[in-house]
Amino acid sequence: MEEKKLIFSAIQPTGTFTLGNYIGAVRNWAPLQDKYDCIYCVADMHAITVKQEPAKLRQNILSSYALLMACGIDPERSILFIQSHVPTHAMLNWILCCNTQFGELSRMTQFKDKSQKHPDDINAGLFTYPSLMAADILAYNADFVPVGIDQKQHLELSRNIAQRFNQRYGDFFTLPEPYIIDVGAKVMSLQEPTKKMSKSDENPNACILILDDKDTIVRKFKRAVTDSEAEVCFRDGKDGINNLMTIYSAVTGKDFASIEAEFAGKGYGDFKTAVGEAVADHLEPVRTEYARLIADKAYLKKCYTEGAERAMKISSRTVAKVYHKVGFVDLK
Ligand code: TRP
Repeated sequence: MEEKKLIFSAIQPTGTFTLGNYIGAVRNWAPLQDKYDCIYCVADMHAITVKQEPAKLRQNILSSYALLMACGIDPERSILFIQSHVPTHAMLNWILCCNTQFGELSRMTQFKDKSQKHPDDINAGLFTYPSLMAADILAYNADFVPVGIDQKQHLELSRNIAQRFNQRYGDFFTLPEPYIIDVGAKVMSLQEPTKKMSKSDENPNACILILDDKDTIVRKFKRAVTDSEAEVCFRDGKDGINNLMTIYSAVTGKDFASIEAEFAGKGYGDFKTAVGEAVADHLEPVRTEYARLIADKAYLKKCYTEGAERAMKISSRTVAKVYHKVGFVDLK
């Protein structure tokens, strides 16, 4: 029997994901379970590279875990765990930090952006974050890593770190490849459609959260910024309409031509309502399943405990070999 390739991905625990996180990343993770062995992780250790309120973080980690399950990740078929539960990530991180260059980390655009945004807290963790991300991936020798465009640079660095380690200590790590999911365009802000949809946007109408209720979703879409024409069609310069068409297409499976036909001669009002309702209906089962899971803390605990045990089993084998390779004295 041919061995399945291994997928690894992780998401930071923001509690609830945006429609952008959902369409661009998380909803594509469940179908991968049919073809690959999958390991998915809530990256809570990455989250503390920026200031977090502890009680809130704890809540967000649990709700992110439940949300991943609600989006179809099956904790029995796949390994689904919380990063801080599996100490091998921190152990491997140290070794990889010692194989990552200051210059490489300095070139990371996310580091530059985040240090500009938080000038009062440019901590060492924020700087070495890509080494931890490399540790996440390399601990399992993942073949493919589904990531969005914003993480591509970090993934390339992971490959470079793995390559350098292999050169220094002999071939060992699998070089991870990006798994590009073709979702068409990025999901943009509903208020400023040239900017990415983001949870941290000051205008709450700019961003759809996947746990928003139907009324909220429809209302936000009704307020979406469009243009002064009255034609639903995908064209350069029609950023607002293009974004709404992308979203509508993503949740209904309709292509742009049939969307244009469906709304020919109708106003933007009708179109915006239709998009809002389609999104809300599409997300309804996720919300329902999430509500069921988050109310069942004992079951969640059972899932993340088993997930951590399974992740630990694989990654501790990797770390033991890495320790030996770098010249540490075997304990057993
Ligand atoms: N850095 C990723 C993000 O912010 C999350 C992440 C952490 C990740 N470790 C990873 C993604 C490993 C892919 C593989 O979105």
